[in-house]
Amino acid sequence: MNAMTIEAQTAVNGRSGQTMREVPQSGVQIADYDHRQTVGEITVDNPKMSCREVNVYYGAKQALKQVSLDIGINEVIAFIGPSGCGKSTFLRCLNRMNDTIPSCRITGHIQLDEDNIYDKSIDVVQLRARVGMVFQKPNPFPKSIYENVAYGPRIHGMVNNKAELDELVFASLERAGLIKEVENRMGEPGTSLSGGQQQRLCIARAIAVNPEVILMDEPCSALDPIATAKIEELIDELRENYTIVIVTHSMQQAARVSQRTAYFHLGDLIEVGETDQIFTNPRHKLTEDYITGRFG
Ligand SMILES: Nc1ncnc2c1ncn2[C@@H]1O[C@H](COP(=O)(O)OP(=O)(O)OP(=O)(O)O)[C@@H](O)[C@H]1O
Ligand SMILES: [Mg+2]
Repeated sequence: MNAMTIEAQTAVNGRSGQTMREVPQSGVQIADYDHRQTVGEITVDNPKMSCREVNVYYGAKQALKQVSLDIGINEVIAFIGPSGCGKSTFLRCLNRMNDTIPSCRITGHIQLDEDNIYDKSIDVVQLRARVGMVFQKPNPFPKSIYENVAYGPRIHGMVNNKAELDELVFASLERAGLIKEVENRMGEPGTSLSGGQQQRLCIARAIAVNPEVILMDEPCSALDPIATAKIEELIDELRENYTIVIVTHSMQQAARVSQRTAYFHLGDLIEVGETDQIFTNPRHKLTEDYITGRFG
């Protein structure tokens, strides 16, 4: 796939006249409010996932419009934007969680490595093991701490005996930075943990089935600053082994944990780029308004 630049896109769409203007001297082009082609580089050299022209409808209402974006291997990409702009909708497209919403219809193409994830041959349960999810509100199963993590590997037939399962449970809790706090209380209910611990338990549960991508929808919004800092540290460590997509309402959090940021507005992917660039030199007026607090 060719790299898409502002220039290339506007040339293709022939809409550059009214919506793009050059900032004198710098040569940087700034897109005006009515410009709806994604500004910035949607492709990466090593894509783990590739999304092209994704549209999502809930009944007659369109929630996402022609979204094209690569998600790089071992990167943390943040999705930001005002409430209702489609961040969760797009996140859910990436592991077909939207399939569970009857009114939801999706067009376009989403690939995980070489696989078209919407192909008829795809086993959705397997897909969701490869592309795991952590939700806004920690949601441990009503089971013990141990069982929360053991459940996935067991149903996916990943282990042959109890010793292997123990090892996998401990390793997952270790990776999620929780083992020290729970090693002496593995039989207690997952719900007996604090909110921050529960969220790390949910991360351990996601990790246990050996995912390649982890989707996180506002994973810290129910947590205090200390628990949030722990999760952010963890995200940074996990990046070595996983691709992470995080939806966040906190621009500070996006700036701290992500390498790339995608800004959504009313169903359009308005701008994507290196996180530093998005927060210091946005190239679309809508992004600029959002990050400077004028909108959202
Ligand atoms: N299950 C659903 N049925 C109908 N419409 C929906 C459904 N889920 C989302 N929508 C609509 O789709 C649009 C995008 O919603 P989405 O939840 O993806 O936004 P969001 O960016 O995640 O917002 P927030 O920051 O508030 O979580 C909104 O207009 C919303 O009302
Ligand atoms: Mg949401």
